[in-house]
Amino acid sequence: MYQEVHARMCGIMGYVGPRQAAPLILDGLRRLEYRGYDSAGIAVANGDIHVRKAEGKIGRLASLLETDPLHGTVGIGHTRWATHGVPSDVNAHPHRDPSGRFVVVHNGIIENFHELRERLSAEGHLFESETDTEILAHLVALEYDGDIVAAVRRAVAHAEGAYALVVMTANEPGRIVAVRRVSPLIVGLGDGETFLASDIPAVLQHTRDFLIVEDGELVVVDADGATIEHIEGGRVDRAVMHVDWDAEQAEKGGYEHFMLKEIHEQPAVITETVGGRLDGEGEVWLEDVHFDDAFARAIDRVWITACGTALHAGLVGREIFQRILRLPTAVEYAHEMRYADPLVSAPSLTVAISQSGETADTLAAARLARQKGSRLLALTNVVGSTLSREADDVLYTRAGPEISVASTKAYMAMLIGEYLLALRIGRARGVVDEALSQRVAHGLHLLPAQVEHVLQAENDVAKAAHRIADAQDVYFIGRGLDYAVAMEGSLKLKEISYLHSEAMPAGELKHGTLALVTAGVPVIVVLTQGAVYDKTMSAVQEVKARGATVLAVAYEDDATIGAFADEVLRIPRTDDLLSPVASIVPLQLLAYHVARLRGHDIDQPRNLAKSVTVE
Ligand code: F6R
Repeated sequence: MYQEVHARMCGIMGYVGPRQAAPLILDGLRRLEYRGYDSAGIAVANGDIHVRKAEGKIGRLASLLETDPLHGTVGIGHTRWATHGVPSDVNAHPHRDPSGRFVVVHNGIIENFHELRERLSAEGHLFESETDTEILAHLVALEYDGDIVAAVRRAVAHAEGAYALVVMTANEPGRIVAVRRVSPLIVGLGDGETFLASDIPAVLQHTRDFLIVEDGELVVVDADGATIEHIEGGRVDRAVMHVDWDAEQAEKGGYEHFMLKEIHEQPAVITETVGGRLDGEGEVWLEDVHFDDAFARAIDRVWITACGTALHAGLVGREIFQRILRLPTAVEYAHEMRYADPLVSAPSLTVAISQSGETADTLAAARLARQKGSRLLALTNVVGSTLSREADDVLYTRAGPEISVASTKAYMAMLIGEYLLALRIGRARGVVDEALSQRVAHGLHLLPAQVEHVLQAENDVAKAAHRIADAQDVYFIGRGLDYAVAMEGSLKLKEISYLHSEAMPAGELKHGTLALVTAGVPVIVVLTQGAVYDKTMSAVQEVKARGATVLAVAYEDDATIGAFADEVLRIPRTDDLLSPVASIVPLQLLAYHVARLRGHDIDQPRNLAKSVTVE
């Protein structure tokens, strides 16, 4: 079955046919609203290219269209989730070239954006917006010599990254050209009309027949249908896919729940969060992190503050910073830190982690740290969020909108952000030499495929979930980075399965909690850290001796654990420093499958809200 697993950041909708394009596109964009966005726009070709776009909800765009309608039967539209440049009318898509004859919308990220912009600026190009998209409009226009398909092909040869690009020109009315490099694109086939979209829900009310554009392909759409080619040239035959999903299933890309969809998006989230920020040599470039090397060298302490899952990402961060940077690093619950009169002072760095960037406690702790002289860095998923606006530096996590209340892909992106930040600071401080940098860079580049591999073993996890579904209490243990992952695994389980669950360092067990471990009690051990492997194994033996049901998350080549655990959830061997990225995945899936067996509302667990904007 076709399932969409990309961490989509924006929505795309295009139309060619006999009907008025703008109302159809507006309707399609509304159907993509569930994914979150911060601005929207439409372009229609009718002799010239005409554009309407507005920051904010689609209602604003609709009002614009009411007072100033767009007439024409070929058009493209877009909902934007900001990545380059804040949400604003100017940064909203579509973007035109200076002649106004070419117009583009785009999803994803152009990694060599700065290089391209500098080059074009040096050649005299002026840009209206801060977006990477506008550059593509200029590039296509520059490459145009009478054939839009050839121009797009040549333009994308300059643009590195993971994206989907849609182009229309007033010079060749009646067709739209699009390219898929990772970011999804589908074609909806109607009767004398054709649709193009980032995903199926946008067009499901018009047709159930689709062509899925694959990575590395270019598609030319007109009213009679679509032709797909490889970007480099050469026709592709693609079978028509008939979809019988209802609208709700379509929003979830064919998955039963948003949570599961978001878990499966994680390989793409890693690719996008790393994209354009790290080269093979381990050189790091973080676009909105402004501190200089002198500051990085001066930092005497790192404070990490956050709540919930974001705090658990912070626990991984503490280990990374202490191990890589040898810098004292404290992790503080934001709701504690804000009232604790913390001993924060300059020259420290405070890393406030928040998916939403709007969590009231995290904002309060971050403000306090900044008042006390610490430099504030926001690690957040939402461009333009309050936290991002108040911080001195921002590292965006590029996970795309997260809909499930239980956070998964945003956590994953936070981990990746922390590795990048550690490399950035470590290079400046001279504690990360080229060899370590390359080792981490190499490991990070392998992670998407490794996480994909773990996801493919979902059935094993689903089976293991049966061992836990009827338990009263569950305990998670691990040491070091494994303990940090255990904390997050436990939170995931409790928030959606409503099972009582606790995580602790493996060594803490015998100081009290072991009294609760009796026959059949599930104990989940995360076991990836070579340096403390034997120590954690002693805890496994202790609980096993008391009849516990042991589930382990361990490397594929771990030949020891099999004899002690009732179930082993395997992950590919990674650098021990990077293991949380892979080892959290079976635990996310486990929480999901236990909750499913227990019949709970997985995406909207009781009593919980996606964003906690009150104290
Ligand atoms: C759990 C979860 C919460 C959030 C927490 C902080 O799955 O999502 O624990 O992590 O409320 O939210 P943000 O990251 O938006 O500050």
